[in-house]
Amino acid sequence: MPRVLAPTGSPVSAAELGHWLTALLTGQDPRPAFAEAICQHFSVPHCHLFSTGRAAMSFLFGCLAEMNNDPARTEIVVPAYTCYSVASSALMAGLHVRVCDIDPDTLSYDLEQLRSIDFSRVLAVTTANLYGMPDNLPEIDSITREHGVFLVDDAAQSMQARIAGRFSGTWGIAGLFSLDKGKNITAIQGGMIVTENNELENIIVQRYSRLPENGHVSNIKEYIKLLVYFSLLHPSLYWMPASLPFLHLGETRYEDDYPINRLPRTLAAISNHQLSRVEAITAIRLGNAERYIQTLGNTSGPGRFSIIDGAEPVFLRYPVRMKDKQARRNFLGEYAGLGVTASYPQSISDVEEIRSVIRIQNEQTPNARQIAREIVTLPTHAYVRPGDIENICKELVSATHG
Ligand SMILES: Cc1ncc(COP(=O)(O)O)c(C=O)c1O
Repeated sequence: MPRVLAPTGSPVSAAELGHWLTALLTGQDPRPAFAEAICQHFSVPHCHLFSTGRAAMSFLFGCLAEMNNDPARTEIVVPAYTCYSVASSALMAGLHVRVCDIDPDTLSYDLEQLRSIDFSRVLAVTTANLYGMPDNLPEIDSITREHGVFLVDDAAQSMQARIAGRFSGTWGIAGLFSLDKGKNITAIQGGMIVTENNELENIIVQRYSRLPENGHVSNIKEYIKLLVYFSLLHPSLYWMPASLPFLHLGETRYEDDYPINRLPRTLAAISNHQLSRVEAITAIRLGNAERYIQTLGNTSGPGRFSIIDGAEPVFLRYPVRMKDKQARRNFLGEYAGLGVTASYPQSISDVEEIRSVIRIQNEQTPNARQIAREIVTLPTHAYVRPGDIENICKELVSATHG
C-alpha cells in the first residue's frame, strides 16, 4: 500500500483512547481537571472549553462587545492571511471584519498598515501566529494599548510557542487555542479561551452557563471521527481517508453555520493527557523543522520566512515560499502524498462568501495575495521520517528551478 502522510496529524495514543473510553463508560467529567491543567500550564487564572476554536472565538467576540458596551466599536481587525474561521467568528458574533495586510517576510501584521487604521470603530485586533510562528506580539500589544482596543491572541496554531519569554495565547485580554485534528495537542475538535481579566471572566461565566452541551447525534459523529482518526492517521493507512473526496481532507472551506457549544466531556480526557506530553510533541515538530532548515540551508531552493526577534516558534508545519504559482503547482503535483499542502488558497479579502461584507484597510492586501499564491507548508508531525524530509527538500529545490 502507498505511504501517505497527513499534512498536520497529531497522533492520538492508545492510552489517550483508553482515557476517553473510561470517561465514556463511567460518566466522569474530565473537563474541570483539564481546564485547571491549562490554567497551571499557561499561568492564567481562567480557562473555558468549547466545541471548536471558532465557537470559542465567536463567543469571545460577543463577550468583548458586551464588556466594551460602545455601539460604535463593531470592527474586529483580522490578518489578511489567516484561517477563514477567524472572519466567520466575527461575522457570526454580529460584528464587522476589517482586514489588514501582512508582512510577507514574517506573516505577522504589516505594522505600518495596522497603525494606519481608524481605531475609533475597532473593538479588537486578532493575531494569527500561523504554523506556530509567533506574530510580533509585543508590537501589536503596544499598538492596541495605545489605541485602547482589545487584543485577542489567536494561538490556535501556536500552543507552546513563545515570544519575549511569554506564551502565545497569553497576550492581550484573552487568548484562543484550538484542539482540532491538526493542532499541537488535539481532542479531535475543541477550542479554549484563556484570560486573566476578571471583568471579562464574569461576562464569560454568565454566558457560558447558558451554553448547551453537544447534542447526542453530534457526539456520536465525533466518536466515529475519533476512532477513524486514531486508526487511519498512520501513513500506511492514511491513503484510505485521503482518497475519499467527500471528507474534503486538507481543503480550506468557508464555514459559518457551526454551533457554539461546550467541549464534549469525554474529549477533554484525550486533550488532558496530550497536554501532559506537549513538550515531547513540540520537540518532535522542532526537530523535523530543524531538519528542513538544515537540508534547505545549503540550497538555492524555496524562500524561507523570518522568525521575529525573541520568538520561539513551534512549527506546527514548516512553511516555505515557492517563486511563483507554477513552481508551486509543479511541486504539489509531485508530492501530494507526503503531507505537503498549499495552506489557505486565498487572502481573507478574496473569500467569495464574505468579499462583499468585509472592510479592507487601504482597499487591498497585495502581500497576503502573493503569499496565498506562493506558500507551501511541509509536515512536521511524529510520522514524518528523515527520508521524507530529504525527498521533500530535493523535490522543492528542483521545482524551484524547473
Ligand atoms: C489561526 C486559526 N484561528 C482559529 C481557528 C479555528 O479553530 P477550529 O478549527 O478549532 O475551529 C483555526 C483553525 O484551524 C486557525 O488556524
